[in-house]
Amino acid sequence: MQNRSIIIDCDPGQDDAIGLLLAMSSPDELDILGVTTVAGNVPLELTERNARLMCDIAGRADVPVYAGCAIPMQRDLLTAENVHGKTGIDGIEIVEPEKQLEPKHAVDFIVDTLRSSEGNSVTLVPTGPLTNIGTAIQKDRSILDAVDEIVLMGGAMREGGNSSPSAEFNMLVDPHAADIVFRCGRPITVMSLDVTHQVLATAERRDRIRAIDNRAGQATAGMLDFFNRHDTLKYSSLGAPLHDPCTIAYLLAPQLFEGKQCNLTVETESELTMGHTAVDFWHVTDRPVNVQWMYEVDADGFYALLIDRLGRYRNG
Ligand code: BDR
Ligand code: CA
Repeated sequence: MQNRSIIIDCDPGQDDAIGLLLAMSSPDELDILGVTTVAGNVPLELTERNARLMCDIAGRADVPVYAGCAIPMQRDLLTAENVHGKTGIDGIEIVEPEKQLEPKHAVDFIVDTLRSSEGNSVTLVPTGPLTNIGTAIQKDRSILDAVDEIVLMGGAMREGGNSSPSAEFNMLVDPHAADIVFRCGRPITVMSLDVTHQVLATAERRDRIRAIDNRAGQATAGMLDFFNRHDTLKYSSLGAPLHDPCTIAYLLAPQLFEGKQCNLTVETESELTMGHTAVDFWHVTDRPVNVQWMYEVDADGFYALLIDRLGRYRNG
């Protein structure tokens, strides 16, 4: 597989953090130009700290981390400590990371990087509210020329909302930024709850992760143990859905997923259905296709990939 240049835009969050560990385990396929952080699961000062901590755990001091927007474009910030704990990554020991934060604002990093990149050469991988990406596009639309694809986690169709009856968390936090992204005209692949609710961190899978004898494996097992408590109760399921790593897994092994070209329009006006992703799955309108909507994943294949890649870290 060809090495792909990516920017991961995230709000760690245990599942974002595990996505970072998966990405950083795979330098032959993924050239991480930078990790940009946004407020979402927890406030910005925690999401950027948590991303830096993952760089320490992965032994990837070479990956730059930037802090971006602290509040959504138009709405008040909504956080999810009830799911992720006070720190965002409860379940592991939190220390001040050795990895330092870059001084540049994440939005400036995204804009400058894309301005200086060749056409269709950078993949954006957002796994949090889309505030940084929406703001970057608003600042300079010409940066889109450098974007070959956006692979994001967000939205829901068949699964319904997880943060309101109508909306998934990342969409609900910043629907206005999401609207900018979905209208941007570049290819977008969406890992929604319809897919992520299939990749459950069951006890058997968590045991296999716990058996990985390195820092990344132990951190992942610890974070999943915490993450599991809330979600297994909420969904009466055998394990928590591992949302955000689906984006990275898709980049590494697209054959694990099935999707369909659709129109997706996000609700930005109705308070009742704010952030709802209206997916024209059966092409009942003539709205133009703007996303590849993923709806099926080989969950065993996903966990085999995750466990194999986490096992590649050599920093015991
Ligand atoms: C999304 O919201 C957050 O809680 C997770 O990190 C994921 O990005 C799932 O709805
Ligand atoms: Ca996230």
